[in-house]
Amino acid sequence: MRETVRFVRRGQIVEVGKVDPMTTLLDYLRLTEGSTGTKEGCGEGDCGACTVAIGRSRGGKVVYEPVNACIQLLGMADGTEIVTVEDLADGVTLHPIQQAMVEKHGSQCGFCTPGFVMSLFSLYEGTDGPVGRDEVNDAIAGNLCRCTGYRPIVEAALSACAGPRDDKFRKTAEDMAGILDFITDDRDIFIGDDDRFFAAPASIDGLAALYSRHPDAILVAGATDVGLWITKQLRDLPKIIHLGRVKDLDGIEDTGREVLIGAAATYAGVEPYMRAIDPDLGELFRRIGSKQVRARGTVGGNVANGSPIGDTPPALIVLGATMELRRRDRSRVLAVEDFYIEYGKQNRAAGEFVTGLLIPKLRPDQVFRCYKVTKRFDQDISSVMGAFRFTLDEQGVIQEARIAYGGMAGIPKRAKGAEAALQGAGIRDAAAWSKAFVALRDDFAPMDDHRASANYRAETAHALLGKALLEAAGTPTSRTRLVGRREGYVHAAE
Ligand SMILES: Cc1cc2nc3c(=O)[nH]c(=O)nc-3n(C[C@H](O)[C@H](O)[C@H](O)COP(=O)(O)OP(=O)(O)OC[C@H]3O[C@@H](n4cnc5c(N)ncnc54)[C@H](O)[C@@H]3O)c2cc1C
Ligand code: FES
Ligand code: FES
Repeated sequence: MRETVRFVRRGQIVEVGKVDPMTTLLDYLRLTEGSTGTKEGCGEGDCGACTVAIGRSRGGKVVYEPVNACIQLLGMADGTEIVTVEDLADGVTLHPIQQAMVEKHGSQCGFCTPGFVMSLFSLYEGTDGPVGRDEVNDAIAGNLCRCTGYRPIVEAALSACAGPRDDKFRKTAEDMAGILDFITDDRDIFIGDDDRFFAAPASIDGLAALYSRHPDAILVAGATDVGLWITKQLRDLPKIIHLGRVKDLDGIEDTGREVLIGAAATYAGVEPYMRAIDPDLGELFRRIGSKQVRARGTVGGNVANGSPIGDTPPALIVLGATMELRRRDRSRVLAVEDFYIEYGKQNRAAGEFVTGLLIPKLRPDQVFRCYKVTKRFDQDISSVMGAFRFTLDEQGVIQEARIAYGGMAGIPKRAKGAEAALQGAGIRDAAAWSKAFVALRDDFAPMDDHRASANYRAETAHALLGKALLEAAGTPTSRTRLVGRREGYVHAAE
């Protein structure tokens, strides 16, 4: 058992004991360490002003990912290197990203600048040669600037990343990986006492035992939801169990017929596997939050939180995904769709946790589509999310239709009436389409809130079903995609 959190700052190992479970990484940096270069804006993962880079040892190298320090807990940084904007310059020589921001006039008031610099630092360190505009846009989709405008910032990134990488982080990468390996151990972390603690078990058995002793504890995977309970809802969370150190809980495996995802696998880690199942699925993952959110947020957390507007559950439901839950030493398997009972209520007992998900891949006779409709294209939560899987025979007759929506009910839910109306119909059968549209109206009584009116949601769900059918039918004259085309992302139907 270890009673401290250990990480690396500016080449030195830092060991912190007696940390309150709710201490955020941002508060530690600004209030304890006095590193006020990292800014606090929204406090909820949206503006990117608090972006720092987290380095992890991977195969003898250090891999840096941007995270929102405002919604990360300090304890989650165990075993990592924390890099802030103060650390980038090499003596009086600015880091290439900083230098390019100066030369391209990428900063005015400067409040957002440290966050942009750290997002671009992660891009710079994560690539070896020139990057494209799409890649830069993706890297800064989680950073807001209200005075400079994005063009100079994008140009700074393109120019800094145009040449070979040459900075102090590259030169010391092997040494740093060695230090990170040195501070990583397989001991459980427990800081505090039975009434108030931060714990990070190292094994799944340790997690099961601890959670059964403290079923009232809050499990934290990436904290991209839980972090906001602290900063926005001002909740007191006295008992926190972090899943990020549990051995193999972040594993991802492609077995050929399915993809197995550990509950702590991040969006960033899972995305390529999802893209291989279907380009729409890959694009859905790319559009979840921002790089910062995808670096820490997990599919397990997205499923477990039971949100009616989570993006992955509708897609997982139509793919027929199952999940494994564990309580003490007993495990059970459940279809993802059966996990959701009603708004705020899931099929999960006290002390039970999700260990992983099994996602069947598509068969050659299956067509999959999914669409996320948001107010902004990037870094926004869905108003409506629709996922569709049609199984067709050789004549184009629908053997099975699976349709699920997010944002249409208190839970992610299948459109069983619309599915039944399409069963046995030809994929181009307009009469069956009409019946399905009518049935869809009875499948849901959508909610009315600040994201969208009930009527807008109903109309959108109808339009998305129509679009999925058009694309599945391969209707050659219909242009169904106006935005969201990216290199390497063109569906056969387009
Ligand atoms: C800026 C921003 C943008 C976002 N954009 C999107 C978006 O586009 N689409 C979207 O769907 N979501 C979005 N989210 C919400 C959030 O990122 C996701 O819901 C994410 O998947 C949560 O995963 P996490 O690992 O961070 O969960 P956490 O915050 O760690 O946990 C979430 C909940 O799940 C529980 N939990 C976590 N792991 C387990 C487990 N293994 N077993 C049982 N319970 C568990 C926790 O106790 C908690 O109740 C966004 C959030 C932010 C801050
Ligand atoms: S302060 Fe806005 S993302 Fe953290
Ligand atoms: S420079 Fe002022 S907010 Fe970006």
